[in-house]
Amino acid sequence: MDSGQVKRMTTRIIGTGSYVPEQIVTNDDLAAIVETNDEWIRSRTGIGQRRIATVESTSYMAARAAERALENSGVKAEEIDLILLATSSPDFCFPNGACEVQGLLGAVNAACFDISAACTGFVYALNTAHAFISSGMYRTALVIGADVLSKLIDWTDRSTCVLFGDGAGAAVVRADETGIIASNMHSEGSKGSVLTCGSRTNGNFLLGKKPELGYMTMDGQEVFKFAVKRVPQCITEVLEAGGISPEAVDHFAVHQANYRIIESIAKRLKVSIDRFPVNMEHYGNTSGASVPILLDEMNRGGLLKPGDKVVLSGFGAGLTWGALLLEW
Ligand code: ACO
Repeated sequence: MDSGQVKRMTTRIIGTGSYVPEQIVTNDDLAAIVETNDEWIRSRTGIGQRRIATVESTSYMAARAAERALENSGVKAEEIDLILLATSSPDFCFPNGACEVQGLLGAVNAACFDISAACTGFVYALNTAHAFISSGMYRTALVIGADVLSKLIDWTDRSTCVLFGDGAGAAVVRADETGIIASNMHSEGSKGSVLTCGSRTNGNFLLGKKPELGYMTMDGQEVFKFAVKRVPQCITEVLEAGGISPEAVDHFAVHQANYRIIESIAKRLKVSIDRFPVNMEHYGNTSGASVPILLDEMNRGGLLKPGDKVVLSGFGAGLTWGALLLEW
């Protein structure tokens, strides 16, 4: 390094891991419980099967994915300064899921909290870790996306139950001279009703009733329109910030909700669909876990070479969306 020149630190992904539940549920299995069929689900979404948690909890899957990411990175649990868990389906309201993961891993030196941004959760969490690392506050972080949406779904509603699956993905990130080049996060709270889960209905002794929990509800076509407009926008924004053209990007790891959404994003960016790896056929939409599970498969499958330019992007409830451009 030139004397007197201080290189600006960024955040680099140095290891990945993932975990999905044992139990496979095929489209034909769902056709036995709701009026649907394999052809409809595949042609509209690209999904063939999903994993559904039976004994696995969100924190258990998150910890298993994190263990694999730690092993992949060569980092010890005690070296982790920060654990961020992106989830919409934590085991408990408190303690938070990141603290549960900390306990399971023995990551005794970490500060831990959850991030709630639905299917954009991992992108939000990675951005947040990047903010802490680039400020110099922390050096090493564990960023996890994990969801068990199967416990929030109305299994009699064919318009939502065919879309989702359970799983977890994780990345170990560390301060380095290369890594994240540019990033963004966006939200539009006025459109929250398009995709919701929960209820505003209180319950307590004054009201003489229990609180309502409420299942997931979704306006599928509105979500579709939102995704095909906003994802190309935020990817274009992150590429412009990084001074890189879409053609120069080696891989686009985009939230795995629907193959038709990904086709439309590729078309709008004028990039070959071949640069968009997909795995929703095997797992469905795993919400906050979808981008890190895909990234782990890309990493372990040897797709990612040092110096590759990679875009990560997510979209989901909130509404929320965002993207990161990084050098592998
Ligand atoms: N099987 C068979 N038929 C079905 C099913 C099903 N599982 N679900 C709906 N249908 C029927 C509908 O009832 C409708 O029938 P009708 O014409 O007789 O009324 C017909 O199929 C068409 O329904 P549409 O809703 O118009 O179908 P569309 O082509 O829009 O596809 C889909 C629906 C797949 C949900 C699509 O809108 C989509 O993918 N949207 C995006 C959803 C998404 O990505 N959600 C995740 C967001 S991430 C997060 O934060 C959780």
